[in-house]
Amino acid sequence: MKGKVDALLGIVFGDEGKGKVVDFFTPRYDVVARFAGGPNAGHTIIFGGQKFVLRSIPSGIFNENAINIIGNGCVIAPDLFMQEAQELEAAGYTLTQRLHISRRAHLILPTHRVLDRAYEAAKGKDRVGTTGKGIGPTYSDKAARVGLRVGDILDNFEEKYARLKARHEQILRDLHFTDYDIREEEARWMEGVAYMRRFPLKDTEIEINEMLDAGRSVLAEGAQGSLLDIDHGTYPFVSSSSTTIGGVCTGLGVAPSRIGRVFGIFKAYSTRVGAGPFPVELFDATGDRIRDIGHEYGAVTGRNRRCGWIDLVALRYAITINGVTDLVMMKSDVLDTFETIRVCTAYKKGDDVLCHMPYDTAGWEAVYEDVPGWKTSLSAVRSEKDFPKAFADYIAYLEKALDAPIRIVSVGPDREETVMRE
Ligand code: IMP
Repeated sequence: MKGKVDALLGIVFGDEGKGKVVDFFTPRYDVVARFAGGPNAGHTIIFGGQKFVLRSIPSGIFNENAINIIGNGCVIAPDLFMQEAQELEAAGYTLTQRLHISRRAHLILPTHRVLDRAYEAAKGKDRVGTTGKGIGPTYSDKAARVGLRVGDILDNFEEKYARLKARHEQILRDLHFTDYDIREEEARWMEGVAYMRRFPLKDTEIEINEMLDAGRSVLAEGAQGSLLDIDHGTYPFVSSSSTTIGGVCTGLGVAPSRIGRVFGIFKAYSTRVGAGPFPVELFDATGDRIRDIGHEYGAVTGRNRRCGWIDLVALRYAITINGVTDLVMMKSDVLDTFETIRVCTAYKKGDDVLCHMPYDTAGWEAVYEDVPGWKTSLSAVRSEKDFPKAFADYIAYLEKALDAPIRIVSVGPDREETVMRE
C-alpha cells in the first residue's frame, strides 16, 4: 500500500507547541518534512531533561530512524542553519545522511534581513512586527523570480550572490536605509553555505513521492499558524508563506490525494506575537497570569506573547480551511488554577454579531461564554479516565462547538505529559 502524508499544523497564530507533538509523533513516521517558513519558527522540544529549539530542522531529527526533509517551500539561512545543526552535532546527533535539503528551497541572504528591518522601519506604526529573519523579502524575491535557491550554491555561486546582493543594496539606498554593516555576518553566512554543501541537496519532491510509492509514511511539520498564512491569515499581519494545508502540497511537491490525516494543533488559550488584530487579547492581570504560567515568551525573539482566551471563531475557520481531521490541544495544564474559563464563541461590533471569521478582524470584540475551571493539576494525568470531570466537560464542549474530535491532550512540556484519546 502507498504511504500517506499526514500534516501537523498550528491552526492559530503559531507557538502552539508543535515541536513537542511532532517529536512525540515521529516514531510513527519514516519521514518528517518541513514545507514552509524558515528560521522565524522556533520549535521547542524537551525530553530527558534537555531542551532544544529547532528553527529550520524538522523535529524528527531526534529519531535516529527518521529521514528529515527541508522542503522546497521553505526558506533557509545558511549561517543560522549551520549554528542549529552544529548545536545538534555537539549534543551527539549525526545529521548529514538523515537531513535532506530541497535544491528548490530559497536562500535568505544577509541583505534580506537588512531589507526586513528597512521595510518594517518604513512602515512605521503599521509595521508587522516580523521576526527580522528576512522571511518576507526572501519570499518576495522568490515571487519576483530573482531569488537564489539552495541548488545555486552548487554552481557559480559567488557571481549569483553578488548580483542579488547588489540589487538589495540598491533598494536599501532608495529607501535611505544605509546604516548597516553585514561584513562579519556575511563571512559567517558564506561559511554556512560551505557547510550546507556536505548535506544531501536533493530534488526532495521526487524523493518524497518515491518514498510514498514504496509505502513509507510522511509527517509534514507545519510552522507558524493558519492565521499567519499569506492567503488565509490576518493580512497584512501575516508571515509570507502558505502555512495551511495547501502549503503542504506546494511546499513538498505532493498531490492532494496523498494527504492523509490533518492534525490541527491549538492551545487551551490564545497567544499572538507581533502586531495585528487579536479580538480575544487580555490587557489585564488575567492575561499576565496566562503569560507567566504558560511561559509565553517567544522562542526566537524572546518577545512577550500577547495572551487571551480560546477563540472558537478562529478555530472553526482554521479547521475548515485545513480540513482538520483530528485536533490536538496543548498546554491544558496552564489553566489548572483558574476558577472560570472563558471561551470566545462569536465576535461583535456594535449590534453586529458574527460567528465566522470576518475579512478583517480589526475592531471586532470577543463574545464569551464561561465554563467552570477544573482547579486541579493535570500534569500527572496520563489517561482520559483520570480527567477531572470539569476538564472532561470542557473537552466535550469544545468538540461539540468545533465539530471535530480532540485526539491528543498535552498536560505539560515533557514528551511523557501527553494523553492520547481514541
Ligand atoms: P515574519 O514571518 O518574520 O515575516 O513575521 C510575520 C509575523 O508572523 C509576525 O507577526 C511574527 O511575529 C509572526 N511569526 C512568524 N513566525 C512565527 C512563529 O513561529 N510563531 C509565532 N509567530 C510567528
